[in-house]
Amino acid sequence: MLRLGILGLGEGRSTISASLASKKFKLIQICDANKKLCEERALEFDFENWTTNYKDMLTSDKIDMIAIYTPDHLHFEHIKLALQHGKHVVCTKPFIDDLSQANELLELAKKSRKKIFVGQSSRFFEPAMRQKKDFDKGLIGELITIESYYHADHRWFLEKGWSLKQSLNGCMED
Ligand SMILES: NC(=O)c1ccc[n+]([C@@H]2O[C@H](COP(=O)([O-])OP(=O)(O)OC[C@H]3O[C@@H](n4cnc5c(N)ncnc54)[C@H](O)[C@@H]3O)[C@@H](O)[C@H]2O)c1
Repeated sequence: MLRLGILGLGEGRSTISASLASKKFKLIQICDANKKLCEERALEFDFENWTTNYKDMLTSDKIDMIAIYTPDHLHFEHIKLALQHGKHVVCTKPFIDDLSQANELLELAKKSRKKIFVGQSSRFFEPAMRQKKDFDKGLIGELITIESYYHADHRWFLEKGWSLKQSLNGCMED
C-alpha cells in the first residue's frame, strides 16, 4: 500500500476522495498554503492531518508518494522537491509548462529511482467510454496508432490569476 501526501487542495480534492476510498493508497497528510481551505477539507472528509507547509510532507518518513495539484507554473519546482526528498510523484496536467526543464526532471527521476506519473485520466468520460465500446464491437477496426485531443472550455480556468504565469525557480516558501 502506498502512503500518500496531497499538495494543493483545490483540484486535489478529487484525490483525497479517491484515496480515502482506495485499498491501494493510504492517505497520510494533505497540504495547502491556504489554511482556511485545509480546514474546509478536514471537515469535509473528516481527515485531520493537514499542514500549510510542503516541507512537512517532504520530510515525513511516513509518506512514499506526493500527489501535486498546485498551479501549473509551480509544478516543476514541486515535482523536483518531491524527487529530491525520495518521494514518488503523481502530478496533474500540465506536468510542466516549460520543456527546457524536462531533462533535469528525467535525470533526477533516474537518479532517485522514483516513479513519476501524470495524473490525468479520461477513461470514464462519456466520449471515451463510447469510443471504447465501438472499438470492442469492432466498429473502428484494428488500431495502429491513436492521436487524441481534449477540447474543453477553459474560460473559467483562465480567470485564475496564476493561469498565464510561467515557471519560476525558487518558488518554495518556508
Ligand atoms: N486533471 C484535471 O482534469 C485538472 C482539472 C483542473 C485543474 N487541473 C490542474 O490542477 C492544478 C490546480 O488547479 P486548481 O483549479 O485546483 O487551482 P487552485 O488555484 O484552485 O488551487 C491550487 C492550490 O494550490 C495551493 N498552493 C499554491 N502554492 C502552494 C504551496 N507552495 N504550498 C501549498 N499549497 C500551495 C493554493 O493555495 C491553492 O489552494 C493546476 O495545475 C490545474 O491545471 C487539472
